[in-house]
Amino acid sequence: MLAAAAVRFSPDDPLSALEVGPRREPIVPDGWTTVELRSAAVNHHDLWSLRGVGLREQQLPMVLGCDGAGVSAAGDDVVVHALVADPAAGNGDETIDPGRTLLSEKHDGTLAEVVAVPRRNLVPKPASIGWEEAACLPSAWLTAYRMIFKRSGLPASGGTMLIQGAGGGVATAALLLGKAAGHMVIVTSRDEARRKQALTLGADVTLPTGILLPGKVDAVIETVGEATWQHSLRSLRPGGTLVLSGATSGHNPPADLRRIFFLQLAVVGSTMGTRDELQELLEFLDRTGVRPVIDEVRPLSQTRQALSRMHQGRQFGKLVLTV
Ligand SMILES: NC(=O)c1ccc[n+]([C@@H]2O[C@H](COP(=O)([O-])OP(=O)(O)OC[C@H]3O[C@@H](n4cnc5c(N)ncnc54)[C@H](OP(=O)(O)O)[C@@H]3O)[C@@H](O)[C@H]2O)c1
Repeated sequence: MLAAAAVRFSPDDPLSALEVGPRREPIVPDGWTTVELRSAAVNHHDLWSLRGVGLREQQLPMVLGCDGAGVSAAGDDVVVHALVADPAAGNGDETIDPGRTLLSEKHDGTLAEVVAVPRRNLVPKPASIGWEEAACLPSAWLTAYRMIFKRSGLPASGGTMLIQGAGGGVATAALLLGKAAGHMVIVTSRDEARRKQALTLGADVTLPTGILLPGKVDAVIETVGEATWQHSLRSLRPGGTLVLSGATSGHNPPADLRRIFFLQLAVVGSTMGTRDELQELLEFLDRTGVRPVIDEVRPLSQTRQALSRMHQGRQFGKLVLTV
């Protein structure tokens, strides 16, 4: 089968570690099944893998990809939940199973014609959601969904939120989900064109990165990390919540501890979401008509071009591959 895999590690030039070509079909352990993929999407996670983050030499070659949708062995249209984990080991929440792993960390991922996954990882795809849209959902969109609806402490509707970095997959998902839930949403970006795009997607206010907000917010959706951390803490009202799921620009900012305790801020980590939350997300999209922003669609054979665009930070929304 055709697949895109990490065949070595290169911290400085991750694309040099990528090989797109023929691979053996995945082995299917007991309790697992296969999905013939129709679509997949790339994530920053794939670039981290090519750099060697989260993988060991002896695991290579590793097929990349956390996001995918396709047809199950039983002939059903499904979205693949990317987290291989046991809910019982996480007190009912598989995202905190100490043994959890994402597709492409221990088991071959979705940038392929076929992927093997545990049976419980198949989630029915509503007919109203297209293949390309479905491929966007299991990582960035599920992460944004959990951040807003489960981790942020925001009310069901009518809260105020700040999203750092307009163009990322998680950020665009958070904007659309936050607006659909009825929150006031402020978005920052270094780039004027992206700020305009965020406005067309429904942002109430957009600002250049680091500029003082017109008012403090209830919650910050943070994936940029070091470059925006201090601004995020300064933007919160007393008792507000900073939800963090990524650190693209670096992971060691000054902690600003006094501000955190004095204003009684909550700093909450968030990673992916449960299978049930993925199902809730699909139902939310089916019900509201909200759909992912897709930057570009290319065939799987052009994975290199898609990852290169992400590496250069040129995308606005998700980069999708069709299989
Ligand atoms: N924990 C999880 O489960 C999970 C799931 C998905 C993703 N993630 C992580 O979340 C992060 C975001 O991923 P993504 O794919 O959504 O987006 P991304 O491509 O990493 O970009 C996010 C945004 O970061 C901003 N940015 C990057 N460098 C910056 C800098 N030096 N200064 C200011 N802004 C900067 C950019 O905003 P502007 O150019 O608009 O300013 C960009 O739109 C990644 O690190 C990823 O690994 C984690």
